[in-house]
Amino acid sequence: MRHLMSPLDFTVEELDNLFDLANDIENNMSKYAHVCDGKKLATCFYEPSTRTRLSFESAMLSLGGSVIGFSDAGSSSASKGESVSDTIRVISCFADICAMRHPKEGAPMVAASKSSIPVINAGDGGHQHPTQTLTDLLTIRSLKGNLRDFTIGLCGDLKFGRTVHSLIHALIRYPGIRFIFISPEELKVPDYITDMLKEKHIPYEEVIRLEEIMPRLDFLYMTRVQRERFFNEEDYVRLKDFYILNKEKMKLAKQDMLILHPLPRVNEISVEVDDDPRAAYFKQVQYGVYVRMALILTLLGIKTKI
Ligand code: CP
Repeated sequence: MRHLMSPLDFTVEELDNLFDLANDIENNMSKYAHVCDGKKLATCFYEPSTRTRLSFESAMLSLGGSVIGFSDAGSSSASKGESVSDTIRVISCFADICAMRHPKEGAPMVAASKSSIPVINAGDGGHQHPTQTLTDLLTIRSLKGNLRDFTIGLCGDLKFGRTVHSLIHALIRYPGIRFIFISPEELKVPDYITDMLKEKHIPYEEVIRLEEIMPRLDFLYMTRVQRERFFNEEDYVRLKDFYILNKEKMKLAKQDMLILHPLPRVNEISVEVDDDPRAAYFKQVQYGVYVRMALILTLLGIKTKI
């Protein structure tokens, strides 16, 4: 039995197979309509979500399976003091696979250690968000054709943004990737990440102004300032609108630069940018469904011919 805690749980070759399967699903949805008949997915979300939870549910329903779960810790027995370990033992009696989001870093890992069904980390605190990373990689691979030789700018809350941490870990396994980190001083990418990049001789720069590096980017990965991880509201209010991508700034970008965002967006991308053909963040959401369908099949060990 296999779980997914980090994007590194899959080798690059296994990821290629997963993305091939996701692209086949994209092009042949009806072929997969009954491959999970009789299977159940449990979504155990102790933190709010729109995309991750509903795309998992949409994925399982599109595969012919069904879905149970909770979307709020307050409506589960966690509110009565039940541990994650006990909850997953119980969920293992009800479902074939579980996607779990939790505010505590490592909670899905604790669940996996006690589970008799595959557990997927659907986001744990400020730590990792592996299925968002699978979504991001599939989007880049599908829109660019490969996962090598590009400069990606990661902009916004690089301190608390778990999607950023997961994506950096995943991208360093591909050749020719250059990172530019764009953030205010207070929201810089953690030292353990820059130390890792130095150790692996992977090129990166840290800048504060988006405008100065915009013309060099192949991808711009915007992120929201993570209000829920701030210790005080004052700091959040001061930093929340530090970056706002608008039409004016987009004039500085390459004609084929693509904008990604894990969403939800608050103010960091002006809605006027949505009609720009380089805005790929809603396509990214759709790729999230295909890759989660492929992931469910892979973790359940359901083989299909591509
Ligand atoms: N990208 C993402 O994790 O979105 P949700 O919080 O809506 O699931």
